[in-house]
Amino acid sequence: MKALVLSGGAGTRLRPITHTSAKQLVPVANKPVLFYGLESIAAAGITEVGMIVGETAEEIQEAVGDGSQFGLKVTYIPQEKPLGLAHAVLIAREYLGDDDFVMYLGDNFIVGGIADLVEEFRTNRPDAQILLTQVPDPRAFGVAELDPSGQVVGLEEKPQQPKSDLALVGVYLFTPAIHDAVRSIEPSWRGELEITHAIQHLIDASAEVRSTVIKGYWKDTGNVTDMLEVNRTVLETMERRIDGEVDEASETIGRVVIEKGVRITNSRIVGPVVIAAGSEVSDSYVGPFTSVAENCRIADSELEFSIVLRDSSIRGVGRIEASLIGRHVEVTPAPVVPSAHRFVLGDHSKVQIRS
Ligand code: TTP
Repeated sequence: MKALVLSGGAGTRLRPITHTSAKQLVPVANKPVLFYGLESIAAAGITEVGMIVGETAEEIQEAVGDGSQFGLKVTYIPQEKPLGLAHAVLIAREYLGDDDFVMYLGDNFIVGGIADLVEEFRTNRPDAQILLTQVPDPRAFGVAELDPSGQVVGLEEKPQQPKSDLALVGVYLFTPAIHDAVRSIEPSWRGELEITHAIQHLIDASAEVRSTVIKGYWKDTGNVTDMLEVNRTVLETMERRIDGEVDEASETIGRVVIEKGVRITNSRIVGPVVIAAGSEVSDSYVGPFTSVAENCRIADSELEFSIVLRDSSIRGVGRIEASLIGRHVEVTPAPVVPSAHRFVLGDHSKVQIRS
C-alpha cells in the first residue's frame, strides 16, 4: 500500500500572520501540520509516499526532504496547477501503479492518526473508504448521505440543503478502481476534477464505498480560534520533557516540553506548554496551551493559550492571551510619552486635568 499526500495548491497567503505560503507547513505545537500526517502514514506501516506539490514545491521539499526523517521514501509529483483532488490522482497514476493507497490532504489533521483505519481497510477491502465527521454547518463541505447500514449512497459538494451533517474528512482509502473513475469525470463548475464526483461515479457503478465516522478532525482554514484549539488538543497529549536549562528560581509544572538550548530564568511555566530550541524566557509566566517556537525571547511578560512563531520577542507587556504571533515579531510597551502641562493660570482659576 502506498500513500498519496496532497501538498500542492496555489501558495496564496491565506494568513498574513503565518510565515509560510504553503498551508501544509502551518505549525501545530511547533511542528508543521503536514508532519503529523506523514508520521501517521508511517505509523500505519506505509513507507512509500507520492507527494503532490505545486507552486510551493520548494518550501515543501526543504521541509520534508527525502522523507527519511519519518522513515518514509518520498517521491515528488509536480502538479502544474491545483486542478482538483481527482486531478492529483490522475497525474499520480504511474507512481501508484496497481497498489491500494491512502490519499491524505496535507493540510488536514486527524487526532489519533490513521493506523486503525488503514487496518480496517486492509481487512475489508471495499473499493473505497471515506472518512466523515459531524459538523455544525455542513454547507461549506463535501457531505455524504448514508443508508441505514452505513454504506455511502451519495456525495454532494457544498450543498445548500445538506442531506446529513457528515462532512468529508481529507483522508481517503482507494483501490485501483478509482483510476477509471477519475478518468471518467468532467471538471466541475469551478474547473476542478472533484474527488467527490469520482467517488460518486464509483457509487453509481455499484462499487462498495464504505465510510467511517471519526472525531477529532481539523483542517487548516486560517482561522485563529481553530488553530489555537488544535494546538491545545495536541499539547494535551505531550509528555513532560525538560532538556533545556531551568534555573533554581524557576518552576515548571505539568506537561511542559523544554527543548535543548532553551533557557528559563526566574519564571513560572505551567503546562501544557512547549518551548522550542534557542528560546529564552525570563521573569515571565507562560501558561497552559502555549507553543513558543525557535529563537524567541520572552521577558517580563505573561503569555497564555497562544502560539508564538520563531524569532519573535515579547518584552515587558503584561498579559497576552488567545493570540497568534507570527515570525520576527516584536511586542514591547509603548514608549511613555512625557506629559507636561504648561500653564499661565490667572488668580482663582479652577483646573481639572485627567492624568
Ligand atoms: P484545498 O484547496 O483545501 O481543497 P478543497 O477542495 O478541500 O478546498 P475547498 O473545497 O475548501 O476550496 O486543498 C486541500 C489540500 O490538497 C491542500 O493541502 C492542497 C492540496 N491540493 C493539491 O495538492 N492539488 C489540488 O489540485 C488541490 C485542489 C488541492
